[in-house]
Amino acid sequence: MKAQNILAVSVLGCSFGLCQDNVNWISVNEDNPSFSLSSSNISYQFHVDPLTLDLVHDHWGAYAAETVPDFDGVISGWGGPYTYRRREFPDLGRGDFRVPAIHIQHSDGDTVSAFSYTGYDVSAGKPSLPGLPATFGGEGDVSTLIVHLYDNYSNISADLYYSIFPRYNAIARSFRITNNGSQDVTILRASSWSVDMPNEELEMIDLHGDWAAETRINRRSVVYGEQGFRSSVGYSSHFHNPFLALAPPSTTESLGPAIGYSLIYTGSFSADVERWSTGWVRVLLGLNPLHLSWPVAPGDTFTSPEVVSVYSEHGLGGMSRSFHSLYKNHLSRSNYTFETRPPLLNSWEGLGFDFNQTSMVNLAEQAAELGCTLFVNDDGWFGTDYPRNNDSLGLGDWTPNPAKFPDGLGPYVEQVDNITIKNSSEHMEFGLWVEPEMVNPDSDLYKQHPEWCMHAGTHNRTLQRNQLVLNLGLSEVQEYIITVIERILDSAPIRYIKWDNNRGMHEMPSPSANHAYMLGLYRVIDNLTTAHPEVLWEGCASGGGRFDPGLLHYWPQSWTSDDTDGLERLYIQFGTSYPYPPSSMACHVSAVPNHQTGRTTPLAFRAAVASMCGSFGFELDPSTLDQDELDAIPSLIATQQKINPIVINGDFYRLALPDQSNWPAAMFVSPEADSAVLFAFQIRSALKPIPPPLKLQGLDANAKYKVGNGTWEQTWYGSTLLNVGLSLGWPQADYQSIILTLDKQ
Ligand code: GLA
Repeated sequence: MKAQNILAVSVLGCSFGLCQDNVNWISVNEDNPSFSLSSSNISYQFHVDPLTLDLVHDHWGAYAAETVPDFDGVISGWGGPYTYRRREFPDLGRGDFRVPAIHIQHSDGDTVSAFSYTGYDVSAGKPSLPGLPATFGGEGDVSTLIVHLYDNYSNISADLYYSIFPRYNAIARSFRITNNGSQDVTILRASSWSVDMPNEELEMIDLHGDWAAETRINRRSVVYGEQGFRSSVGYSSHFHNPFLALAPPSTTESLGPAIGYSLIYTGSFSADVERWSTGWVRVLLGLNPLHLSWPVAPGDTFTSPEVVSVYSEHGLGGMSRSFHSLYKNHLSRSNYTFETRPPLLNSWEGLGFDFNQTSMVNLAEQAAELGCTLFVNDDGWFGTDYPRNNDSLGLGDWTPNPAKFPDGLGPYVEQVDNITIKNSSEHMEFGLWVEPEMVNPDSDLYKQHPEWCMHAGTHNRTLQRNQLVLNLGLSEVQEYIITVIERILDSAPIRYIKWDNNRGMHEMPSPSANHAYMLGLYRVIDNLTTAHPEVLWEGCASGGGRFDPGLLHYWPQSWTSDDTDGLERLYIQFGTSYPYPPSSMACHVSAVPNHQTGRTTPLAFRAAVASMCGSFGFELDPSTLDQDELDAIPSLIATQQKINPIVINGDFYRLALPDQSNWPAAMFVSPEADSAVLFAFQIRSALKPIPPPLKLQGLDANAKYKVGNGTWEQTWYGSTLLNVGLSLGWPQADYQSIILTLDKQ
């Protein structure tokens, strides 16, 4: 008789158009151990091989009522019982010749691992990961299966954590290694997620880029051999984002299956996809082995960061909406996640380093005239002996520059706070830029503590943007940063902090310094955000160099790119939205010709593009604008503020991508589908072909919606908008935009 251990049942509502109830989320067959994490939409299944006690993967995808037996045809060749298996936690040294998930070096030098199944535990809810950002949830949201493995030869245990979030069609995975032996071991490779998919035609979708050109969508066939991408930058980086998706070639934005993988981590990472001789496809996502050589002493443990995978049967759009909802509800822990963000003016592109208190207060007054409610003093405000008047000076010395702010931050911020917003009784609020993980050699900090920067023996300390990286793996550096940020926050009422980070890591004392740094960084940020939940924290790394789920755990938003050109931003924001909710993007309107590309686009276009994000603002000097533009800005802000709640809380649909259409479009739909906002763009003026009808998504087909833009309105059934679509008339001009609101009648 088979024993079944079924975890408690929960009744769930409907999400993503699918309803489920009375679902057993985790079931275990104890006699012939097999495991299934299932909701009515998804199943993740694996079993224990009775001969080897290895974990064999069975299925990850749409719901399946039972497990189909493992492949029982003849597979022969060089190898053994681990070679021709779809494995769940592939180790190295016993004949599995593919890329492993775990690679451990023992004290005698060998790197063979032999993990075998010993048991499991199931619990409602989800344990936190010590020192690491991770998804969270209560008993009604998530359940966790922990599978225990043991390597008898080296006395190392591995606990695999699988958590299912049924409402989001998501599984989260991580593992913990414990050294029960008497000698140190070294972890050389740790892929938090590993799965061997069956022999099917697949494409891999990922996001590549560079500074000012982040998150370009890359879609290619999964061919035989290894293919993947990594960051060896020390941070998640502009070059590749720690995200990938796999889907059959037929999958589109709205149709077909897709599986997304997202690593909740900010350091170097590696994504490896390997199609083996059998056609099976191994998918690995985790730490970058080039930056990992992690010693685990007897009695100590190592915990891998977490990967979240979501399954969608509604194309890549469905995958994105699962990530967005999961990350807003169960990753971001900020008070601001679901809050409307204040329209701001940031000083960087307007004034750069060239300002003083008078010119800054003057800029804040102009911001208030336009209707901005938050004024952000970007770079250049600090440094006494090495005043930050250009990017070669002062990083590390976090005291206000007395030549610019003779009385410090307090009286300056008071002046800003006293400014009244035009046509409102509200007062201006103040935000500040910091870059605490960095140091310029020309700084008091570096003169006092040259040993605090990341360096490798006597190797040259390579400068980038004239700066070095502080080693946050050192507890004294962590304490220094916590102390200086606390001191800044104590010195004035600071409502918002932009936390920047403007270079990669070069010389490191050891490969594991990168992970030690990340644990230190998370400790610092955890400490500061816990102590100051009232501050709106924004991440930045020369734009989107650290737009990753690790930092979104602590900070609700991130500066999306240093490229503020409206057209470039369309590509960047659509790409970023693959894994990340638009509510987490910070997007500003800057002056034209654009600083980065030299392109001139209309103000309304730039504002519409920036309004598709959670945090909207301006990054310019209003005194350089034409009167027409100054007159237009208050109403652009009013429109943005009106739609910001649905941008923050709604479901996001990419209707047409800029990579594929001259008329890109996207919409946000409220959770109850009673309101929506549509953003549509024309890149180039074109007489032929005429634009395709814009078929909307996510609406209630049977309801009537009033569609309008403030000056014009018309009412249509949802079915018309969904199935016939809107035929928008475009002017004969480049870079045009239309914002329409939809309200259920
Ligand atoms: C980076 C940021 C910019 C700005 C500058 C200031 O490049 O991405 O937004 O803050 O630093 O030096």
